[in-house]
Amino acid sequence: MPGKVYLVGSGTGDPELLTLRAYKLLKIADVVIYDNLVSQNVLALVNEKAEKIFVGKVSGKHLYPQEKINALLVEKAKENNVVVRLKGGDPLIFGRAGDEMAALDEAGIEYEVVPGVTAASAAASKAKLPLTHREFTSVVTFVSGHRKNNMPLDISYKKLVDLGGTIVVYMGVGTMEEMVEGFLKAGFSGNTPVLVAQAVDRSEEIFIKTTLAELPKIKKQKNLKPPVVWILGEVVELAKLDV
Ligand SMILES: C[S@@+](CC[C@H](N)C(=O)[O-])C[C@H]1O[C@@H](n2cnc3c(N)ncnc32)[C@H](O)[C@@H]1O
Repeated sequence: MPGKVYLVGSGTGDPELLTLRAYKLLKIADVVIYDNLVSQNVLALVNEKAEKIFVGKVSGKHLYPQEKINALLVEKAKENNVVVRLKGGDPLIFGRAGDEMAALDEAGIEYEVVPGVTAASAAASKAKLPLTHREFTSVVTFVSGHRKNNMPLDISYKKLVDLGGTIVVYMGVGTMEEMVEGFLKAGFSGNTPVLVAQAVDRSEEIFIKTTLAELPKIKKQKNLKPPVVWILGEVVELAKLDV
């Protein structure tokens, strides 16, 4: 009988924010397959006997293409009981879990998803920023600033303007200037407040409050580097930066 694969969210880095289920699985895992955004503090909780396999990026390049990771999950599930696929944040938010679940379905391997704290929630919590608020908005949108194989972005900025509310941009450092231009051209005010959250829960953590128009300047001044989420919308006015 093959084992079971657990797609586990590790949050943004603070082990205290793992679910109890994630913690227990790290203690009994036979294999842990993890990538860059999993913090050393979380990895330190993995039991000593587990085989640990890093499948993240090195110098910006994927060591393992997604197909190879899918195949590895299937192979390890055939040889072990508990295979943990450990991911940054939540596995179901920009986490490629869809590809991995499809591969596991195809191979007839049982799996379970264990949620984690996504970067938007971790950043908002630290900055005491309500992503929704009865006085401001009941809409929050997560947008990716990156597409598969670096294909050009296909964001409909106009639709986002019409929708309104809070927008959280993931993977949007490299494309920040392009996205800011897109938002401005579509009708967002340059004064829209923005919170930049870099490396939440890491030693390089920075929070900056700025505006949409000023964002590209801030990127240069602060030399922003991934992982970053930026949050735009009225609710950002409420953020408290005593983090
Ligand atoms: C491939 S996506 C993974 C998202 C993840 N599954 C989640 O739910 O947070 C990677 C992006 O998540 C965001 N991210 C992940 N960890 C972060 C952190 N500690 N601080 C700020 N942003 C983070 C960044 O936008 C980063 O480029």
